[in-house]
Amino acid sequence: MKAAYIEKFGGPEVLQYGDLPDPVAAPDQVLVDVHAASVNAADWKFRAGEYARHAQVKFPQIPGRDFSGVIRSVGAGVADLKAGDAVFGVLEPGREGTYAEKLVIGAAVVAKKPEALSHVNAAAMALTGLTAIDSIEGTLKLQRGETILIQGGAGGVAGFAIQFAKFLGARVITTTSAANIDYVRSLGADQIIDYNAQDFTQVAKGCDAVFDTVGGDVAQKSFAVLKPGGRAAFIASGAQAPRPERSDVTALRPPVPRSRQAMERVAQLCASGVIRFPEIKLFRLSQAAEAHRLSQGRHFRGKLVFAVR
Ligand SMILES: NC(=O)c1ccc[n+]([C@@H]2O[C@H](COP(=O)([O-])OP(=O)(O)OC[C@H]3O[C@@H](n4cnc5c(N)ncnc54)[C@H](OP(=O)(O)O)[C@@H]3O)[C@@H](O)[C@H]2O)c1
Repeated sequence: MKAAYIEKFGGPEVLQYGDLPDPVAAPDQVLVDVHAASVNAADWKFRAGEYARHAQVKFPQIPGRDFSGVIRSVGAGVADLKAGDAVFGVLEPGREGTYAEKLVIGAAVVAKKPEALSHVNAAAMALTGLTAIDSIEGTLKLQRGETILIQGGAGGVAGFAIQFAKFLGARVITTTSAANIDYVRSLGADQIIDYNAQDFTQVAKGCDAVFDTVGGDVAQKSFAVLKPGGRAAFIASGAQAPRPERSDVTALRPPVPRSRQAMERVAQLCASGVIRFPEIKLFRLSQAAEAHRLSQGRHFRGKLVFAVR
């Protein structure tokens, strides 16, 4: 099969494109013909060797965490899926390997793709949509009428999070650069802070919740906007949430379990038009280095997706 892969950790230039052996499904797995795979920030962090488990990685290694495709065959123990089913999903935690024409994945974490969604859309939504729903609902337990500050509104996860928070009946404040103000407004944000022109800690006050997708200083400073009893969830600060400097707020790290039910729920919200897709830029697998440069630059908007077939 054709794949984008690395033989060593490094910059975007270590990504190669070529032939690798087809994977073989274990009894509880399905073999999927991949139609689309998305680029997530985790992919360039993995490629750069930033994750603690990098010492265990065996080369050649295919990056990528989410995909949409069609099942080619199922393992002997799989009863609820069959060859020909259109599916999408996110590889199990600790696994990479969706930048390829084929992949294997545990049947238990594969979701059925609604017909109304294209493979490109389903791949764009898989990890980002799942992360948004797990963070906003599962972790922050955002309620109707609450106010949430979502940091990094033009990014992939935030694009779903803004819309999902609005769907739940919350008021959404978000941060972005001037170039993306109209874009985040189109996603439904009620109040927009241009982070180059304004200090968000002076503009957003008394929030019930914060969802940070930016990390670094932005994450640490985010505690300042919370009212007493407020809660904040962080996905760009590593495996642990940053520690608050005040004792009257809660810092959380969403676990983002690979839940078939949660993925099918996001897919239905997208298929019914409640949540619309973020802006999508398409690449071929042979352009993986170019896609990673853009992703690592952290100033594109929406999602980058590989059209694999
Ligand atoms: N399961 C998980 O834990 C999980 C899953 C998915 C993602 N993540 C993590 O979540 C983070 C976000 O990922 P992503 O794919 O949604 O987006 P991303 O590619 O990391 O972010 C791109 C966006 O960030 C915005 N941005 C950059 N600096 C900013 C700042 N100082 N303030 C506000 N916005 C800023 C940019 O908009 P402007 O050009 O307007 O600045 C751009 O649209 C990553 O660190 C990723 O690794 C974690």
